[in-house]
Amino acid sequence: MDKAVLTYDTLTHEMPIIEGSEGEKAVDISKLRQATGLITLDVGYQNTGSCTSTITFIDGDRGILRYRGIPIEELAEKASFSEVAYLLIYGNLPNREEQQAFSQRLTQNSMIHEEMLRFFDGFPPTAHPMAILATMVNSMSVYYTDYYTEDFQADTFDLMAASLISRIRTIAAYSYKHSIGQPHVYPKRDLKYASNFLYMMFDSPVNPYIPDPDIERALSTLLILHADHEQNCSTSTVRLVGSSMANLYASICAGICALWGPLHGGANQKVIEMLEEINRNKLSIQSCIESAKDKTSKFRLFGFGHRVYKNYDPRAKILKKYCETIFRKNNYQDPLINIAMELEDAALKDDFFVDRKLYPNVDFYSGILYRMIGIPTNMFTVMFAIGRLPGMIAQWKEMHDTDPLKIGRPRQIYMGNTLRHYAPMEER
Ligand code: CMC
Repeated sequence: MDKAVLTYDTLTHEMPIIEGSEGEKAVDISKLRQATGLITLDVGYQNTGSCTSTITFIDGDRGILRYRGIPIEELAEKASFSEVAYLLIYGNLPNREEQQAFSQRLTQNSMIHEEMLRFFDGFPPTAHPMAILATMVNSMSVYYTDYYTEDFQADTFDLMAASLISRIRTIAAYSYKHSIGQPHVYPKRDLKYASNFLYMMFDSPVNPYIPDPDIERALSTLLILHADHEQNCSTSTVRLVGSSMANLYASICAGICALWGPLHGGANQKVIEMLEEINRNKLSIQSCIESAKDKTSKFRLFGFGHRVYKNYDPRAKILKKYCETIFRKNNYQDPLINIAMELEDAALKDDFFVDRKLYPNVDFYSGILYRMIGIPTNMFTVMFAIGRLPGMIAQWKEMHDTDPLKIGRPRQIYMGNTLRHYAPMEER
């Protein structure tokens, strides 16, 4: 059956069924209002597809995540972050020449305009790194103006994409250096993506950065796991802003702001703060579980639950295993890892979490790894943004490649006052 039929009042309306390459099905309601006067209402877009896409496939019931068809487990183990970025944006893994050209574009676009360095001085020392990141990314649209035109163009897009992917890393490292009162460190052309970031973060004239292959691989893996997640809150924001023909920098800036929220990318900071609080105040695991279940309390178990995954988030599975092996290998001690595992254990045995299919998500274990790498807690969401950038860019490009480009503009059901009239002040 390739259509769904809606009967309403005296009307019968047939709607085509769209089937995806993995068998997912959707009712195409694009003619619904025209034919029946009805719109659909779906607060939070729980059942609404906003586009068709060829980038990322998720089967939330089976815990499957693939970029361009390739399982996340294979990419996390074997690929580099720049390969994954290329795969997401251009559709296939790069061959040797393509990889060289892409890496060269990243290197050539890794420094930020020296004038932009002064922007960092304008922020108070307490400024959240996500606020700095969003501001700096939006500012790129006034420094790298020759990269974009009103009409989306493929050659300038390549430069813009490389400019963003490379410079976001430099901006993040500089904002950290600024926050600790150290001079910034310029990127090095012979270092790979993750290594270059760590070098800019941790090198100083008195303490040279000493590379550690385990740490560099851990960071690369984290970035790969963040790289795309189809139509989540921040990516949908990028698409929505981009649909008005706003430039890529502005669209990405909006996406970074959406990612900041604690229900989304900001959850990684919240998880560590929660685990630290449990550790500091010697709270019992069961009391946290009880507060998370208590509807009168504002407390949620951060790093748990997901709109799409109703099974273990495959990214969390990889990160948990990673934490266990890398910690054992390096004899690294962190009391938070045991607390996290106990919390997970208790939640997965509790009927409240079992019934609602609430499992650890990517943010539950990522913070523990970021701590081991030496990233400060308030920068965790910045790390998520660096990783997510290729996905946001790929989704922006896919939307612009779609003909015709439709501005995103949902409707509403108005529930306010019906017609009434202006009353003079003395009559109110
Ligand atoms: N702790 C306690 N209860 C929870 C949690 C949680 N972490 N997550 C969901 N629930 C409960 C919720 O109270 C609701 O219960 P009931 O059916 O009795 O009203 C039920 O589970 C369904 O939750 P929901 O909030 O309606 O589900 P959603 O799909 O709207 O929200 C979510 C998804 C991720 C916002 C939510 O699970 C949550 O707030 N989790 C904590 C924040 C978090 O870890 N966010 C990171 C998500 S992964 C990274 C990313 O891609 O953003």
